[in-house]
Amino acid sequence: MKHIDVADILKGDFLGKEVVVCGWVRTSRDSGAVAFAELSDGTCFSRLQVVIDKNALRVDPECMKTGAAVCAKGEIVRAYRGEGVELNAAEISLLGSCPPEYPIQKKKSTLAYLRGIPHLRLRTNTFNAVFRVRSVAAQAVHRYFRERNYVYVNTPIITASDCEGAGEMFRVTTQPANAKYASEEEYFSKDFFGQRAGLSVSGQLEGEVAATAFSKIYTFGPSFRAENSNTTRHLAEFWQIEPEVAFAELPDIIGIAQEMIKYLIRAVLDESPEEIEFFDRFIEKGLKEKLRNVAESEFAVCDYTEAIELLKKADVEFVYPVEWGKDLQTEHEKYLTEVVFHRPVFVTNYPMDIKAFYMKQNPDGKTVAATDLLVPGIGEIIGCSEREADYEKLLAAMKARKMNTDAYRQYLDLRIFGSVPHSGFGLGFERFVMYVTGMENIRDVTLFPRSVGSIV
Ligand code: 4AD
Ligand code: MG
Repeated sequence: MKHIDVADILKGDFLGKEVVVCGWVRTSRDSGAVAFAELSDGTCFSRLQVVIDKNALRVDPECMKTGAAVCAKGEIVRAYRGEGVELNAAEISLLGSCPPEYPIQKKKSTLAYLRGIPHLRLRTNTFNAVFRVRSVAAQAVHRYFRERNYVYVNTPIITASDCEGAGEMFRVTTQPANAKYASEEEYFSKDFFGQRAGLSVSGQLEGEVAATAFSKIYTFGPSFRAENSNTTRHLAEFWQIEPEVAFAELPDIIGIAQEMIKYLIRAVLDESPEEIEFFDRFIEKGLKEKLRNVAESEFAVCDYTEAIELLKKADVEFVYPVEWGKDLQTEHEKYLTEVVFHRPVFVTNYPMDIKAFYMKQNPDGKTVAATDLLVPGIGEIIGCSEREADYEKLLAAMKARKMNTDAYRQYLDLRIFGSVPHSGFGLGFERFVMYVTGMENIRDVTLFPRSVGSIV
């Protein structure tokens, strides 16, 4: 169908011209001789007002119902009220009627209710804005790296190695549900790949392979975690941005992570001003100011050991105990970033025993050159580290964790053939989108969220 995007019409280029537009009726109202329909085609956040002179045009009442899909033809004129333009309808035709049971009505529905209708919720202002910002941020990610000589690589989704070593992989199998087997070994030897396989929790290990050829690479794709975490910030399927950089040590990669986050925030502020305005008004008061500040100011850096001291001194009853050697829980992360630092903070040099095998061991023999970036409202959004580049030390760390080193032969080889210092991080894309939109539940920044016990 030949028609013009509402986005292009609202830019003003079509003033005085006759156009055809298609979209869904968001609301309509009748005021005597004139009727109005707000049309959204999803190409921009705003809607186009269609003005109907009832004396000149008879409109099928179905065309005026909320949710109906219609096509309207007419002249684009300056809006009668306020700024902008509107369409003076000469013709309106119905493409698809929408019965009164349409679950998205004018009265404000709760986010929890809308979660139950993921196939329709995108037609609301909130979700329109969320996914538009998500798209802008995704494109800014590619732009950021392309401007800096990174190669974009696609790492496998099905893998035989567990990158994080936390045993949270979904299994990939074609074995029948009633498969008979004498041992695990036999079960997997008869399986599709002849060995145990799963969905990747991270593209890092393959990313390191690519970084030792191209120096700077990034991945941007789905990760899967079978962890039993039913929280507002965990999904079983989420997207991760994982740069991997050769000749970079921990302070270098911290600089890159900070620069990238600021770049992405600026891109969203510049390219999605209407959406940010909307979130600022209806979702998180002061969001715009927060984002501007974050884009302009230095992030804090705090050693894990110092963080533990700060938490111990805190005048707060934490649910989880604070002790050197224990991982930080969300409540601790939030306290540090919201109460102590009031801004994003990199916590560095975590105890070796609570972190993954691949992290560079610090000279103290107890900690690793790792950092998590914590932000107010969410907690961890980035997991980052310098990688252990020394063959013997890496091998020892793997053995200490009782890992099958044969399965990581290629990964170990990278430490034999021209090993270099290198570092990387993983930014949880949904958590970033939560941060820039103020949305508080990760299920509300994902088209079709998958989490424990839920695959709608
Ligand atoms: O800290 P994680 O587990 O780090 C890695 O996977 C590294 N291999 C990354 C790297 O160095 N290349 O995960 C990285 C980020 C977290 O900080 C978080 O933002 C996000 O991924 N994340 C999740 N997001 C949603 N749901 C989950 N279940 C998540 N698990 C991690
Ligand atoms: Mg982590």
